Order: sequence, then C-alpha cells, then structure tokens
Amino acid sequence: MIRAALLAASALIAVPAAAQEARQTANFNAPVKSFGRVSYDARSLMIDGKRLVVWSSEMHAFRLPSPDLWRDILQKMKASGFNTVALYFDWGFHSPKKGVYDFSGIRDIDRLLTMAEEEGLWVMTRAGPYVNAELTRGGFPGWLVNQRGRARTDDPEYLAASDEWLTRINAIIVKHQINGDGKGNRGNVILHQIENELALTTPAQRRYMDHLFAKALADGINVPIFHNDQGRNGYWVPEDSKVEKTVPGPNHMYAFDGYPGGTCTVNGQPTRGSAAPDWGYYGPGGARGGASASPNTPGFLAEFGGGWFDYWGSNGGYECNAVQRGKRFQRVFYGTNLANGIQIQSFYMGFGGTSWGWLPAPVVFTSYDYGSALSETREVRPKAEELKQLGGLIAAVPDLAGMIPAGRPEISSDRIQVYHNKSPETDARFLLVTHKPSNGQTSDRFTVTADLPDGHYTLPLELDGFDAKWLVAGVNLGGQRLVYSTSELQTILKQDNRDVALIYGRTGEAGETVLRYASEPKVTVLEGGATSTFDTKGDLKLRYAHRGLTRVRISGGGRPDLLLLIGDEAEGAKFWRTGDVLVRGPALVRSAKTAKGVLALTGDTSEATPLEIWAPADARSATWNGLKVATTRTHSGSVTATAPLAAPVGFPLPVLTDWRVAGGSPEADPDFNDRDWARIDNRAYASITARADGQPNMLMDAYGFHEGDIWYRGRFSGSADAQRLKLHYGAGGSGMVQVFLDGKLIGQDEIPAGLPRPITTGAPSFTLPDTARAPGEHVLSVMVRNNGHNWDLDADDFHKEARGLVSASIEPVAGPSFAIPIAWKINGRSEDLFDPVRGVPNNGGLDGERRGWTLPGFNDRGWKMASLPAAQASEGTSWYRTGFDLAVPKGQDATIGLAFGDTTTPRSKVAYRVLIFVNGWNMGQFIAHVGPQRVFPIPEGVLNHRGRNSIALAVTSDGAPGNALEAVKLVTLRNVKGGIPVRMVAAPATPAELK
Ligand code: GAL
Repeated sequence: MIRAALLAASALIAVPAAAQEARQTANFNAPVKSFGRVSYDARSLMIDGKRLVVWSSEMHAFRLPSPDLWRDILQKMKASGFNTVALYFDWGFHSPKKGVYDFSGIRDIDRLLTMAEEEGLWVMTRAGPYVNAELTRGGFPGWLVNQRGRARTDDPEYLAASDEWLTRINAIIVKHQINGDGKGNRGNVILHQIENELALTTPAQRRYMDHLFAKALADGINVPIFHNDQGRNGYWVPEDSKVEKTVPGPNHMYAFDGYPGGTCTVNGQPTRGSAAPDWGYYGPGGARGGASASPNTPGFLAEFGGGWFDYWGSNGGYECNAVQRGKRFQRVFYGTNLANGIQIQSFYMGFGGTSWGWLPAPVVFTSYDYGSALSETREVRPKAEELKQLGGLIAAVPDLAGMIPAGRPEISSDRIQVYHNKSPETDARFLLVTHKPSNGQTSDRFTVTADLPDGHYTLPLELDGFDAKWLVAGVNLGGQRLVYSTSELQTILKQDNRDVALIYGRTGEAGETVLRYASEPKVTVLEGGATSTFDTKGDLKLRYAHRGLTRVRISGGGRPDLLLLIGDEAEGAKFWRTGDVLVRGPALVRSAKTAKGVLALTGDTSEATPLEIWAPADARSATWNGLKVATTRTHSGSVTATAPLAAPVGFPLPVLTDWRVAGGSPEADPDFNDRDWARIDNRAYASITARADGQPNMLMDAYGFHEGDIWYRGRFSGSADAQRLKLHYGAGGSGMVQVFLDGKLIGQDEIPAGLPRPITTGAPSFTLPDTARAPGEHVLSVMVRNNGHNWDLDADDFHKEARGLVSASIEPVAGPSFAIPIAWKINGRSEDLFDPVRGVPNNGGLDGERRGWTLPGFNDRGWKMASLPAAQASEGTSWYRTGFDLAVPKGQDATIGLAFGDTTTPRSKVAYRVLIFVNGWNMGQFIAHVGPQRVFPIPEGVLNHRGRNSIALAVTSDGAPGNALEAVKLVTLRNVKGGIPVRMVAAPATPAELK
C-alpha cells in the first residue's frame, strides 16, 4: 500500500503538459465480450446492452460489527450518487481454524449482498484470498502463517488452503450474480476480483493466478473476472492485450489502483501538491510507456484513493485526509479519470469504519475512518455532497458512458485545459474544465470555443482556485435539448408531462444555459433572477448568477414544460433525487416510495428543516419517516411542508461512575497453575524470521495462538550467571512485552511506532535483579501484546514474520557466551474460539477475556471499588468495569463514543494502554502515549442505545506513578433524527455462555 502511493506519485511526474491531447490508447474497434447480462468493449461496461459508468466506492462489512447498520451505509452510498459498491472479504475473519468457517451474524455475507441489491447498488466482489486492506495478515487467517510453502504461489498446501476459503465465499457470491447461479438465485454482482496487487509475476505466481481463475469459473462465477494491479503496471492483463512489457494473466478485464493527490498537512489544510494523473486517453500510456496496458478493455480503477489511512503515533490525519481528498479534489481527480476513459472507478474507502478488536495490520490503529465520504461515525461528510452532484450527473446523462476524445477546443487562457469527449452514438459532449496543471490555484475568466453538436459556440467561464467543472453539451435530457450550459447539471427528472432539471454553480458566478426549441417558448422566472434571449437558430439563452435558488419555467416551443432550478453549490447540495422524486431540504433522503397515492419519504434531519417535494401527480400526499406531512402547493410544481421537519433533540449521557477494579495478570504469580499450558518444543518453524541456533520454536502461531496477547512462563534454576535476560520478539505496530520475575515486573519494552513504516519486532535486554541469582526455581512470566501480523504486500511471506517470543536467553553480562536452560510453556487464545459469535477479532489471550470479565453479565461485585482518573497504576494488566444506561430518544440515530483523558491532544504525557470492551465487544485499543486516537465510536447494536450497557477496560501499565487510566467519558459524536431500525447484535452475555 505504501508502495502503491509512491508508485502513484512517480506516475504523476510523467504527466505531459498538454494533457488534453488524446493518444490512441484504446482499441475502439475491440469486439464486445459478453458474460450474460454483463458485457464490455474498450469503451465501457454494459449491463443488458446499455453502457454504464461504474461509479463505486468501497466498504468493509467486517469493519462494522452491527449488520443492521450495513444498510445505513449502503443507503448513504446510494444517496451520495454511487451506483455500485465494492466489497473486500477477509478470509481470516471467517476462519479461526483450518477447515472451520463461519458466515453467520456479523459475518453474514449473504445478507450483505441481499441488502446491496435491495438498496439498488451493483456490486464488485473482491474475495482475495489476499486483500491487504490494512488487515492483520492482509486478510489471511492466523493458521495460514504455519504453512511452510510460499503463499500466493502454486504451492499445493497453500492452494488447498485458499481453495477452502474460495469454495465457501464463491458459493455465496455466485447466488448473487446478476446472471444468477443457474439454480434460480440472482442478485447484483457484476464484476469479480481475484487476488489483489500481486506484483510478483514469476511462473509460480502465474500458475497460482491460473488456479484462482479456474477455481472461480469452476465455482460458478459467470461475471467478468479481473485483478487489481498495484499501479498501472500492466500486470495480469488479459491474454489478448498483446501490449509490449505487460504481463498477461488469466483475466477478462484489467484493473489497477492509484492513490495520487499528495500528502496531508497536520493543520488540516490541503496541500494540493500534485496534479491529477492522465491514466488513460490523454496520458502517456501505461506506467511502463506505450499504449494502454489493456487496449481491449475499458479503463478500470478498482481502487482510487478517496482518503488515506492513519498511523500509530501520528498527529491524527483523518480530518485533514477528508479535506485533502475531499471537495474539489474529487471534481479535479475523479473528473480527470472519467475524461481519460476510466469508465469504472471505485473510491477506496466510501466508508472506512473501524478496525475493531484484532483486525488491524501493524500499520494502523483502531479507527479506519480513512477520511472517506462517510465517516467512521456514519456521518455524511461535506465531500459526499459533492459526490452526490457528480454521481447525479453520471446518472442523468447516460451518454457519458463510453465517451471517446473529441478534439481540442480553443481556450483563451493558457492556464486552463479542457478535456473534450463525445459519445460516438449520440455525439453528446463532456467538457472537463480544469487548470493547467490541474492543481493550479489561480482565479481565471476565459472562454472555450468548440464545435459542439448544435453549432460553433463560445462559452464564457470562470474557474477559481483548485477546482474543475464537469460540463455537458449537445445532449438530449428528458424532452429537452441542452445545447450547452456553463453550469453543472446535478439531475433531471421526467415527472408526468414535464421535466425538472437542477443545475448549479459556484456562488456568485455568472452562468449561461442554452436550450434548443422549434419556436420561441414562454419563459417565466418564478424566483430569483434570470434573463433570456431567443435567436433564429432556435437557441434560448438564459443568463443568471448562481445565488441561492432561481426557478425558471419554460413552456411551449415544441417541447414539454421544463422547470429549471438553478442553485449555488450549497443549494444544489440540499437536493436529493430518489427515483422520479426530487426532495429539497433534509440532511439525507434515504428512500421515496409511492403507494396508494401516498409518497413515503425516509431520511434524516440534523436541524429543523423545511421540506419541498417534486413528485409525479400520483403522489397526492406525503409522509416523512412514517408521519403525515401537511403540505401546500407552490408555483413551481412542488409542495412544501407547512411546518419544518423536526430537529433531533439533545439527550444527556450518563457520567461513568461506580468503577470496579481487579488484577488481570495472574500468570505473573509464581504459583499460577499452568498445568494445561502447552510446552514449548521443537515443532516445525515456518516463520521468515531467523532465530538463534539451538532455540526451540517459541512462536505463538506455532501453538495455534494468533490474535492478541500471549503469555509465556519459563522456569530456570537460580545461579550467579543469571544476570540478564535477552529477548527477541515480534509484536506488530506499537506492540509490547512485559517481563515478570517471580511475580514482580522487572521491565517492559515497547516497539516504537516508526511511522509511516511500522517497526514490528524488538530485541530488548533486561537486567535481572539479585533475586534471580538465589538458588532454587524461578519463574519468568512474559506477556507479549501482538498488535497484528504484517501484510504480504510484496508476496514475500512477510505475514509470516515472527510473533510472540522468537528467543529468550538468561546469561551472564560478560564472559563466555552461555545460556541458562529455561523450560517454557505458552498460552493464549486458541483456534477453538471461546466466543465464536463475536468471532476471530474479538478474542485475545488475557485471562480475564477467557473468564468473561468482558461480558455484560459478569458479576463483578466482589471487585474493589475504584474511581477515575485512577489514583495509582498497577504493574501488568488491571481490569476496570462499570455499567450505564442510555436513553437515546426514539427515532433518533446517534453515534456515541468513549473518550479517554484530554481529547485535545493526540498523546498523553503518561504511558499505558487499554483494550476497550463494550458489552463484550473488543472495540479497539487506546495507547495513551502513542496516539493519536483517544475517542472510540461504538456502533449501535454493539451499544444499546435504549437500555443497559457495560464497559470493561483492560489497562496495561508498568505501574510507574502516573501511568494510570485517565478519565473516561461518553461523548455524542453525531445525532440526527431519522436513521434505520437497529437491533442489538445477539452474542453471549454471561461467562456461562462462553465455550
Ligand atoms: C491498496 C490495497 C488496499 C489497501 C490500500 C491502502 O494498495 O489494494 O488493500 O491496502 O492500498 O489503503
């Protein structure tokens, strides 16, 4: 992933200045390839023979452990203008043990795919086996790291393992394909990805790809199959591409990813450090030069950076990311992609969510907000408003699909470039107007002159700062003919015998829209200001300024009536189109359905909001979230609610009191009973980490412990040589080790964050106290906190880096190399999960976890009372528990989070870390002195918004004064009226229910 960003950056440097000059990179004569209802040629994908711009963004259901809320995300994606959702699946999330798979509850992919279909989104499935995604092991299951054969090759053991997964996940996907599964099941899956960014292209990898492709076909995948290349390298292009320097592979289509757009500053200001790359018609060809890597298939970005992840130890980059890759960036970069013939683009992420429990790879902390259009708290960020406008245009103008370069227009300013494309079928035009280079930030007034379908025209335009305009011209829209407009089109709908169009522009800028008529129509300005002229060609030219909302009715002239709504950008953002209904006002409109004359609208309000509705005549009355809305008719063919829609009400959050505390490192006690623990032995060693000669295999994974904390207990005989303990351990990003001798903490070691490339192993040395030299048996107790296994980005088995102890030796400080024998035992969370309902990421290896101290029904009355902030710290791990009631008003959707200490700074001055359990769910890790995350959103369904809740915090500290749990409080992060029904996720509540 980091390499992908670097790659993207280097591709940027190669962008030529005259970017709008098209090169022949696609074979427009390529034959159509059909896969049932899906087909494509070099220009676009087609569904049922109709060309489609695939406009997609990514979500990970596994990063939102509350399945009812998946629908909330899908509805918000749809409302933000997307027609497709891309889904990674995480093999390791479903498989705790070889041969064991679970697709129930929070792992119910069948339900997810059904929801996507119900919400009207096409689906791209990305099933791995390897996905990366900043997941521990890049999505590989824990047990796979014990395989000695190289992953992502045709090693038979690896293939057998990945087939296990593929057989199961493919069986679910095939039922949801647009072409059906041949057994009567059908859904919305239109494209399917095998592997991810496999940039090693040896014969063993080729045979592996062949295997995955054959497996997908054998399992019944009948939609086009693609791979996601790490940058536009030409790896695994379809066999018939025949382009020099590319690597052919078993794929129907070629896709790649890219994360251009510069880095974020710390103060939330976008740097705008790079221009948008031309990765298609107007560019230099594939990154390796020459023509497009795959001239017979449409431009396809399986991932394009719609944000970026954040690192342990950063200053907190998500808000800045949302701006850096937010408004304007989207217009400039996504527009440049579209102009370049990237007809399939998917933004990574549309909703990032939470890397809860032990999901994260070493590089990331709990929040995977990503700065995406939908925040981790499920807020529709301002950047989503812009996406709604862009997606609205794509939906309103089907001619945009399959466009090709149309020749250079004349531009009066050399600071401006215009990408000019046309539809070969209808001659409709797309003009993307940006600066040259596209991240130029001047304010310019200029003209663009071009031969458009309806004649030779000169368009007066303005472009301020970093921005782009997506203009269309010469296009039939409903019953109208748009000659051109210097405003951008957000949507057009046909309602009964009239058309309603919404166009918009930057506040205060002048705009000009020309429509063609057979004879002069009647123009009535209903609101705002606009003037019009009519000429002998039949052109009606409207002139206006974008300010507030202007409403113009145009009738006669040989066309159906048109209501033209002209908004400034903020006005445009207030509109939602759902089917043939247009709604103005609310913060979100989720659905609009008319039955028996009643238009039922659902959505959210964040404040008291006026409501205006344009609907076909069969809707005689309206409801909002089930309540009747009294309305009056307006002069512009709409109805408005006589009273505003209600605002959400505030609600109090309880103060967290009545804490109870108990010690949580019983393993440190020399008398602890470890009878059932496994003995460390010389079993097969599969790690890529070298170990010292003569050491046994101490790795946690070798004993079936893959997630969370791991304990070792080692017995040795005291002697004068027992002077120091040397450890080598692996623990992932900001992981740690604590060492106890005979029940007393003798030291700890923490792995520095090392951003942006995490450090994942450590080799500390501890001075042993005098007591170690006393004769007799001593017990070393060692806890390693494993913050995730590495990804396998470069297909070099990096995920098999050691976790837990690699080696340990007790030795004299000076003199001959000599180590005292230690008899080790090990224990952690095994592959037989004690809480299979919450599943793999939820379960770690602390004693308290196994005993159900995390669960709401655990009886902690025997524990000591405590108050926060904690007065003093204890060595090792201590558990803090409390309960509280919530009463979020009915009909309101809120996101509530847990906040630690001073939330105005990314790091505490004191050092400790916390595993956060809410109602038994491991919702992440707070590391006070590393940061940056101090506020942890808890999704409803995990959190009971109308009833009782419990919190259990496993606090790990070195016990030094001050290194103790700071204040903990509940915070409301978002609050709207609306939402969707959310049930509590069913899961064990008492220790007795654990296995
Ligand atoms: C891509 C990769 C994704 C994710 C992304 C960065 O290179 O395909 O899985 O890791 O980078 O978030």
